[in-house]
Amino acid sequence: MSATSSARPVLPPDIRARKGTVPLVMLTAYSTPVARLVDPHCDVVLVGDSVGMVIHGLPSTLGVTMEMMILHGRAVVRGVQMAMPVIDMPFGSYEEGPAQAFRNASRLMAETGAPAVKLEGGLHMAETIAFLSARGVPVMAHVGLTPQSVNTLGGYKVVGREAEAEKVMADARATEAAGAFSVVLEKVPEGLAARITDALTIPTIGIGAGAACDGQVLVVDDMLGLFTEFRPKFVKRYAELGTMAADAIAAYAAEVRARTFPGPEHSFPDIAPKART
Ligand code: KIV
Repeated sequence: MSATSSARPVLPPDIRARKGTVPLVMLTAYSTPVARLVDPHCDVVLVGDSVGMVIHGLPSTLGVTMEMMILHGRAVVRGVQMAMPVIDMPFGSYEEGPAQAFRNASRLMAETGAPAVKLEGGLHMAETIAFLSARGVPVMAHVGLTPQSVNTLGGYKVVGREAEAEKVMADARATEAAGAFSVVLEKVPEGLAARITDALTIPTIGIGAGAACDGQVLVVDDMLGLFTEFRPKFVKRYAELGTMAADAIAAYAAEVRARTFPGPEHSFPDIAPKART
């Protein structure tokens, strides 16, 4: 099954059922026009808290609020027809405990219309994932590099080399046992990601975690060459839209200064042309 071939919009059980079959395709989107572009090609459209850095110019995801996620979540839900929108829970909206997490997850779902949320954390989030999953909130988990913990991790590093590997494995297993319907593995060494993918019965979705995962996710602005502040090794640029946009803006500015834009084809004559009979 893929988003393009299913007869109805994708839901969390469809994603779970894709384990070990055709790779899952996931991209982020933060606006209606981009959601419309990615919808026919993706199984899942993630309204990532990366919106804070990519769209709002924040230095990390830590300043992202519930209000931002709801605003962008609504815009994306309006733009998708078949792919499943998933909304990231922002930093500070779920870490206090299961009750706070339920309050905010249910608000994200009710106010955006998305059928699932994503949150960061493994073992220490297992109780919360179980609480949400048992109460109608499908959870996509996220382990390995968890960007909301950038300050405790000490940077955006690879997580899971050598002695750290079994901790990442335990985190991933804990999300499955708690009821997550899938788990994102971010910046995890490829051998470990392959082992986790083999060990779990839920799909793994990799970002910087090698090709063995059950699916892949990228930030759409990264792969389109629109967000160029950082260029992590795991990003493949499929287009250079940032360069194209800069060239187009420079051409417009030059034409305005030379009075070659607007031309007659973009202007309105003083006398209306006669309607054809
Ligand atoms: O916020 C985001 O875009 C994410 C992806 C990188 C997985 O969490």
